[in-house]
Amino acid sequence: MLSVPGLHWTYVTVDAPERTMSVTHVPEADVLRRQDPELAEILLGERERQASTLQLIAAENFTSPAVLAALGSPLVNKYAEGYPGARHHGGCEIVDVAERIAVDRAKALFGAEHANVQAHSGSSAVLAAYAALLRPGDTVLALGLPHGGHLTHGSPANFSGRWFDFVPYGVDAESGLIDHEQVRALARSHRPKAIVCGSIAYPRHIDHAFFREVADEVGAYLIADAAHPIGLVAGGAAPSPVPYADIVCATTHKVLRGPRGGMILCGGDLAERVDRAVYPFTQGGAQMHTVAAKAVAFGEAATPAFRVYAHQVVANARVLAAALESEGLTVTTGGTDTHLITADPAPLGVDGRDARGLLAAAGMVLDCCALPHAHARGLRLGTAALTTQGMGEQETRRIAALLAGVLRGDIEGRKAREEVRELTHAFPPYPG
Ligand SMILES: Cc1ncc(COP(=O)(O)O)c(C=O)c1O
Repeated sequence: MLSVPGLHWTYVTVDAPERTMSVTHVPEADVLRRQDPELAEILLGERERQASTLQLIAAENFTSPAVLAALGSPLVNKYAEGYPGARHHGGCEIVDVAERIAVDRAKALFGAEHANVQAHSGSSAVLAAYAALLRPGDTVLALGLPHGGHLTHGSPANFSGRWFDFVPYGVDAESGLIDHEQVRALARSHRPKAIVCGSIAYPRHIDHAFFREVADEVGAYLIADAAHPIGLVAGGAAPSPVPYADIVCATTHKVLRGPRGGMILCGGDLAERVDRAVYPFTQGGAQMHTVAAKAVAFGEAATPAFRVYAHQVVANARVLAAALESEGLTVTTGGTDTHLITADPAPLGVDGRDARGLLAAAGMVLDCCALPHAHARGLRLGTAALTTQGMGEQETRRIAALLAGVLRGDIEGRKAREEVRELTHAFPPYPG
């Protein structure tokens, strides 16, 4: 095991992978550059963009070179419809082992009786959870989209809003916290078949015990969409939904720092329904290179170094939230328990959309988001990527000052861009 100073990755391979990054991260050769320089330029350009700007998007992170190696491996060639030991294709004996390792590691990491690691994305995981538990037309209670719900929580533009009858609950206008009384009242009056807890923008821990109690009272399933906090759960920095929810859906990227993909955790009683809801109901062949990369990420997430990283992500976010508030932004709920912050930049004289543009020009990449109970757009940002780079509370304070300075117009864009370059240069995501 090899820890890289300053970085919160731990390479779990015996031989340290070559850290001089080629275009593709494949250590042996930069094949792409020779064969297709046009695409190679694009990959290099993106690598440079990621390394020279600040990645403050709450859903993004830097995977380890080991995860990238699994993603760029010949496992991508393998068709593997079905599950280990029961495939519809020949030659699956090796990828079966990869999937079993991924499943066992996920079960151990999250204390779950069953894990499905085939979901292609977070949305696919949610789709499969609904497919496992619901029928078209069923009523589902979920956080409304303007209050932080995901597209799969009932957007009319998404299958969820088209196929199910979603009833939205919200956050309190004063505190910004989930309105538990409203959840209980809506559950009692609508008797939903399922209740979804989880959000793209809620910065606080979700009270899973409360949601379980309400679900039990009205005879609903509880689905936790833990795409955002699941990496913190893995590192012991956030409470786990696993003991409370019938099904937990998650992404394996974001704070968890694995490949882009989805994962579903559940009890043994729902295992078969969940597996059949993924394949053959909503997906075809599993992407075995991604499944292997998920296994690598779960292995990393089980290390002490990952726990340190997960707690640092939260410490950095708390410092960032406090610093942004003292700079004059209005931070939703007054702070954060997680990696995620939403804030209204209006007190600095700029709305969220303009703020995002100004910050992008300064090399600070983040998202706009809906602000509950307001017409204006806000900012959504997170600390996972910068923490992976090795940045701590000092750098986080510097980022807050820079961000506010740009929004107030005190720091000129080019000057801010230079500072960002200096900062990111000191903390390269892929050193070497
Ligand atoms: C709560 C939640 N659910 C589902 C998803 C969907 O994940 P994906 O983009 O991988 O489909 C996201 C992604 O941001 C999310 O935050």
